[in-house]
Amino acid sequence: MDTKDQDKLKDEIIAEIKEKNEVTTLDLSKKHKMDHQSIVGIIKGLEIKEIVESEKMETKQIILTEDGKNCLEKGSPDIQILKELKANGPQTKKALIEKIGEKCFNQGFKMCMKSKSITHDKASDTLTLKIEEIPTEDKIQNLVKKVNDDNDPSKYDANTTKELIKNLKFAQIETNKFFKVKKGKNFDLGNVKFETDLTTELLSNDKWEKAKFGKYNYNTKGKEIQNGALHRLLSVRNQIREIFLEQGFEEMPTNNFVESSFWNFDSLFQPQQHPSRDAHDTFFLKYPKSANTEKKFPDYFLRVKEMHEKGGFGSIGWQYNWSSEEAEKNILRTHTTAVSSRVLYKLAEEYKKTGKFIPKKYFSIDRVFRNETLDNSHLAEFHQIEGFIADYELGLGHLLGTIEDYFKRLGIDKLRFKPAYNPYTEPSVEIFAFHPVSKKWVEIGNSGIFRPEMLMPMGLPSNVNVIAWGFSLERPAMIHYHLENIRELFGHEVNLKHTQDASIYYFKE
Ligand code: PHE
Repeated sequence: MDTKDQDKLKDEIIAEIKEKNEVTTLDLSKKHKMDHQSIVGIIKGLEIKEIVESEKMETKQIILTEDGKNCLEKGSPDIQILKELKANGPQTKKALIEKIGEKCFNQGFKMCMKSKSITHDKASDTLTLKIEEIPTEDKIQNLVKKVNDDNDPSKYDANTTKELIKNLKFAQIETNKFFKVKKGKNFDLGNVKFETDLTTELLSNDKWEKAKFGKYNYNTKGKEIQNGALHRLLSVRNQIREIFLEQGFEEMPTNNFVESSFWNFDSLFQPQQHPSRDAHDTFFLKYPKSANTEKKFPDYFLRVKEMHEKGGFGSIGWQYNWSSEEAEKNILRTHTTAVSSRVLYKLAEEYKKTGKFIPKKYFSIDRVFRNETLDNSHLAEFHQIEGFIADYELGLGHLLGTIEDYFKRLGIDKLRFKPAYNPYTEPSVEIFAFHPVSKKWVEIGNSGIFRPEMLMPMGLPSNVNVIAWGFSLERPAMIHYHLENIRELFGHEVNLKHTQDASIYYFKE
């Protein structure tokens, strides 16, 4: 039954209660030709909204058994035998059984012998009628007829019911549970739709004051959940997400798996001849080959070109001919620093519009792609935990402190920092953690302070610094789960039985 039909039925039921003040679920089930249980379900739905009230009831009915129905149709067993003998003369037991059935014969035979209306010759096993006239009135059949017409057991005295139920087994008592339904507090509202949840929408525009809420039915059976398990990587990812959110970081939108080289490299002041920009390291798209970055961000596009070619703000740039065609090439993003770059550009735009710069903390956790040789610890796609803080006068101390704090929250307090090189950060710092099981220092991230050559063309205030990092998600997760092969963590070889069990992230001794 679809919701439309259900609504129609509800309206009809409400109209009936309006007219009669009271109905029973049994009546409703008969009238609407619907099974009783479904009617009860509908009534319970209306009751939660207090449109109706219901009261649990019980009735007992006396109803005929199969043997009782046989008697109703053909007469009581003894009369059936007597009639046969009268019509066709003495007969063997066997012949009679064939005609009226064994059960009926046995019952009737006993009754006839008791009333001495027949004789039984054991030698020939033949039955003979001993009375002249067969009773014109079949008392038992009459009683069965009465029960069939009126099955209220209170109408029959104890002896009658005992005879019918216990002795003859022609009837039995059935108990029916049902509900008496009356108008409820909200009856006049009719079949209204109730709000099921207090939503932000209701709260934010005062609709909640007028909204009608249904009562929760705490006794209802919950929906069965199709149980699934969180992928290990997702589980670790959720925990990291929590850490950032707790510290007031905002999540960046990471929905561009396909990115233009411009955002992935050029905006980060990564020169176009840089080795990571060739097909050995990066996946280039055949179709659509080019992005439309210049059209969307014409001024910024030119400022980036200028910075690469000639520099500015005290820098001499890279001193080469920057190609807009190269910048427009579509690729699969090689790092989520492309995401940070887009977000920083937006912050700069806002600053330009409002004249106000608001310090911000951002993070993201998502997939990146590299054209790597696959082995036990390298896949062509993996996840990066990216983040940055943009604020006035930030320095290396803030960067290292922030990183230390983050890893401490994950249970890692032995860290080492190593000077490194990235085209877009200065200084740049690689992060190593001590793995207590393998007793080795392993690289778990890279970080730095974004260069002015990256931030100035965006238009951020010159005294705003951005400390930033990119951490690996898989590497520490592998250590945590004691996995040697990255394919056991990511890809089609993952064992689905490995459910969410990462209560502590990793490096816990
Ligand atoms: N993008 C770098 C990487 O992929 C990580 C990084 C992010 C380094 C931000 C510095 C600043 O390894």
